Amino acid sequence: MFFQVLSLHAFPVIVHAVLVPITYLAASNSSGAVCLDGSVPAYHLLPGASNSWHISLEGGGWCDSVVSCANRAKGHWGSSIYMQSPTGFAGSLSNDASVNPDFFNWTQVFVRYCDGASFTADVEEPLVLYFRGKRILRAVIDDLRSKGLSNATQVLLSGCSAGGLSTILHCNDVQSLLDPGVTLKCLSDAGFFINTSDPGGHYLMSKLYKDVVSLHKLENTLDQSCIGDSNGDATKCFFPEIMKAYVKPPLFLLNAAYDSWQLEHGLNLSRDSYNSCISYSSCPPVELLQGFRASMLDALSGGWSSLALYINACFTHCQATWDATWNIPKINDKASLPCRSPAQSVGDWYFERTAQPEQAIDCAYPCNPTCIQQA
Ligand SMILES: *[C@@H]1O[C@H](CO)[C@@H](O)[C@H](O)[C@H]1NC(C)=O
Ligand SMILES: *[C@@H]1O[C@H](CO)[C@@H](O)[C@H](O)[C@H]1NC(C)=O
Ligand SMILES: *[C@@H]1O[C@H](CO)[C@@H](O)[C@H](O)[C@H]1NC(C)=O
Ligand SMILES: *[C@@H]1O[C@H](CO)[C@@H](O)[C@H](O)[C@H]1NC(C)=O
Ligand SMILES: *[C@@H]1O[C@H](CO)[C@@H](O)[C@H](O)[C@H]1NC(C)=O
Repeated sequence: MFFQVLSLHAFPVIVHAVLVPITYLAASNSSGAVCLDGSVPAYHLLPGASNSWHISLEGGGWCDSVVSCANRAKGHWGSSIYMQSPTGFAGSLSNDASVNPDFFNWTQVFVRYCDGASFTADVEEPLVLYFRGKRILRAVIDDLRSKGLSNATQVLLSGCSAGGLSTILHCNDVQSLLDPGVTLKCLSDAGFFINTSDPGGHYLMSKLYKDVVSLHKLENTLDQSCIGDSNGDATKCFFPEIMKAYVKPPLFLLNAAYDSWQLEHGLNLSRDSYNSCISYSSCPPVELLQGFRASMLDALSGGWSSLALYINACFTHCQATWDATWNIPKINDKASLPCRSPAQSVGDWYFERTAQPEQAIDCAYPCNPTCIQQA
């Protein structure tokens, strides 16, 4: 993933990202923290300022059945045997000041995802497969502490897609694994998966998450006060719209109002049907799209005062991990603020540079000509 080819907008056509080698956890240090297939977890570390760390959690969907997890165990999302090294760091992980003005000189870490349940499971018995994601995240943080994270004074935890969900689910845990007094802020990129139905009335995400929660036995590991408040329905606490109220450190939600992954998997729309929207020509299921946006804004409501938001009217998924989507799309949300990109808005939020809370909600499609189509 080190080249990004864009079909819209001339700049930048191809992005060369810095290549960062993989680090495997020592088996003796991993304390039973293993990928689905039993292999050791891994991360990529790009050294930078010793007191400032950005830790990004990889995404890549979930597995919701023994069969889908067994298949996943045969690839890099389930086994470190298949993870590529090096990998490219771009967008918010870039060490180029022109691309990543606020975090370029931080120590940057990309944590590989190989458990299939957003780093949440902790099942003791291996049933052919290992469900140990929660242990993986702890073991990785522990290992990073020995490599200098224990000297950090400011940390950004981020992730996109399933990693964006992980960011919401683990923001409190990560805070507890850092020294008291360390500033932690959490940026969830394309991690705001909502409980919505497809045109046929099927709640596809709810079904998927229910199966993930049950297979990986997450009733024991997800936020217990959330589960208590949800009358024991642990699946609710895998949904960001419920969990966001329990996150204690500052949380920033960066999401497209027309998140392309959710249009495909939550609304069951074909790629073609929404891709035609990008050219602002025809857009067949426009009522569905606006209904989805309305559901997302509704799910985001409640707790707005403590949340930072950047919800743009683009058809995209994961904007912090690419140079172009991190910098080019703009929202002109408030008369008093200039048009800002995700990079600017996240930087302003992290460093508290604006008087107003960062809550940028774009107009409804079609209105924003600065969106980028991902390859
Ligand atoms: C194992 O962890 C210890 C303490 O956290 C650390 O000093 C050591 O370098 C680690 N070993 C390896 C091989 O990573
Ligand atoms: C990164 O570089 C900028 C610009 O030179 C500087 O202001 C900032 O303090 C540096 N950040 C860290 C964490 O070293
Ligand atoms: C933390 O900083 C001190 C002082 O610079 C240094 O001696 C020590 O090795 C650092 N700790 C780690 C784990 O890198
Ligand atoms: C999702 O929404 C549907 C319809 O309101 C509801 O039946 C279902 O329980 C919800 N799922 C979760 C996990 O809350
Ligand atoms: C999605 O829609 C197609 C028809 O476009 C249908 O065949 C399929 O069963 C639907 N998928 C789900 C998971 O509902």
